[in-house]
Amino acid sequence: MSSSSAESGWLSSPILKKVVTGVTGLGLTLFVLGHMIGNLTMFSGPDAYNQYAHFLVSLGPLFYAVEIGLLAFFVFHIITGIRIAMGNRRARRSRYAVRRTAGGPSRQTVASRSMIITGLLLMAFLVIHLLSFKFGPGGPGNANAAYFTTVDGVGMRDLAKLVHEKFQTPWYTFGYTIIMLLLMLHLRHGVWSALQSLGAMRPSLTPVVYTIGGLLGAGIAAGFIVMPLAIYFGFI
Ligand code: HEM
Repeated sequence: MSSSSAESGWLSSPILKKVVTGVTGLGLTLFVLGHMIGNLTMFSGPDAYNQYAHFLVSLGPLFYAVEIGLLAFFVFHIITGIRIAMGNRRARRSRYAVRRTAGGPSRQTVASRSMIITGLLLMAFLVIHLLSFKFGPGGPGNANAAYFTTVDGVGMRDLAKLVHEKFQTPWYTFGYTIIMLLLMLHLRHGVWSALQSLGAMRPSLTPVVYTIGGLLGAGIAAGFIVMPLAIYFGFI
């Protein structure tokens, strides 16, 4: 496929691609922040965790609308992210073809290269994650009486049981820990890059926003990691 046909279509503008990646990325950051906080209900016990998950599902049409929006955000974020990375690669190739004395990669190149790698690994994680939990035993299209419980007289999915089972195994627990560290790196650069693409930042603010992105990424990753580790080491 020629580079011009690869760049055709309504998402061909480099600025539009960056804006779409930035807006969807910030939206997904809010989702992971909310998801992480929700996960911490496990520290109040399995019933609290199940009630929280059940509350979300019982929102009905609102819940499904948010799920569809979330899916659209993931799809657009992944498509535009991959296209930006492909565009950067093409630009590097043509630059090297003209000027063979190019030195080592710039900090920006290293950061954007790591974004596509961490992004693709997170995408693979997400597929496994959804198959294990959302569509796991007791989930949609996978009815299983062993993963059903009753809390205060209300019947619901026993998601806490499934989460406890998964995080008994070392490869699952430490695999999640590694993925959450990748998420931290992805968020650190992503938050900075998104705010820059959206023009919400003066160059003088770069160190501040990079620090905020780093703290946000580290906070979200730490919040996600504590629950699997607490289960694995038998604290909850
Ligand atoms: C320790 C880390 C995590 C744990 C224990 C965890 C746990 C769960 C569980 C139990 C569900 C099923 C909820 C339900 O069906 O009601 C779920 C759904 C989901 N998780 Fe995670 N999660 C973690 C990290 C992540 C991360 C890092 C992402 C994104 C990069 C993510 C994205 C999702 C998505 C998109 C769903 C489906 C939401 C929905 O449609 O209801 N999760 N997670």
